[in-house]
Amino acid sequence: MPTVTFADLTTTQAPFIEQAQHDGQLFIYQPYEQYSERNHEAWRKLYSRMLPRWQRYANPAFQRGVQSLCLDPNAVPKLEDVNRFLQPLTGFQAKPVSGYVPAFLFFDCLRNREFPTTITIRDADRLDYLPEPDIFHDVAGHVPMHTDRAFAETLVRFGECAHTAADAVDGISDPQKRAAAMTSIIRAMARFFWFTIEFGLMRSGNGISVYGSGLLSSYGEIHHSVESPEVQRYPLQLEWVINQGFEIDHYQPLLFIVDSFEHLYESVHELERWMKDGRLNNVAPGEPAVNERDLESFLKASHQPRSGRSLSRS
Ligand SMILES: [Fe+2]
Repeated sequence: MPTVTFADLTTTQAPFIEQAQHDGQLFIYQPYEQYSERNHEAWRKLYSRMLPRWQRYANPAFQRGVQSLCLDPNAVPKLEDVNRFLQPLTGFQAKPVSGYVPAFLFFDCLRNREFPTTITIRDADRLDYLPEPDIFHDVAGHVPMHTDRAFAETLVRFGECAHTAADAVDGISDPQKRAAAMTSIIRAMARFFWFTIEFGLMRSGNGISVYGSGLLSSYGEIHHSVESPEVQRYPLQLEWVINQGFEIDHYQPLLFIVDSFEHLYESVHELERWMKDGRLNNVAPGEPAVNERDLESFLKASHQPRSGRSLSRS
């Protein structure tokens, strides 16, 4: 594959992003003029092949969302335009970031109705799998869901859970025990997020629809998730989900089904109750690994009053 030699916004090859990371800038702007024709071509190819699959498998709320955001099938979206349509519906906004957002900060953004959004796009010759998020995953996979009021409230609730998580370990005086409990709670939250927001299925009439963004942005897996006999599909059960590991580099063999977004919202509520009761302090070990930056972001928040925590975002 030829290496891109000019400055554009291709994933892992964008000088603008490298510079922002070098300067320690997490929240950035979208330098729209830097998208090359090849970047737009990648969006066009991704969008046109997903469209029939969305029509067949995507949850109706997602399909309405795609309509109401007026995404251009032919060009990488301008986040300003996306937000102009999105914000009046649920208050959510796509907020451009230069890369990885530590977990507490990420969830706190959701609480503030901001969705950290990658602005780079995968190379036009590598449409299928990439480990990094890109603007197609974030804007075409996630953001249409944020137009739905019940779904949006669920995300906000999830963001509030991050604060509850920080509070939950405050009373543990032994630093090692506090870090172990925090790690376990983060792992439980990551698993819940993965099996719902990223890979969730919903009961729809006699069938199943897809609302998870990892599936909605994957041409191969959206079909596989609904049709393949190799996938185990079970009703969402909190005690299972929080103890279930996952791997990110292959199609998911196990997926969970909710009845509705109200059901999902209630489940987040229950997750929070379990958190308060200490029932997430010792979930089954295994994937995902919790990295230092994620752990640090939560532990730092746990020493601050709730009102001051968001200041760490600027
Ligand atoms: Fe995602």
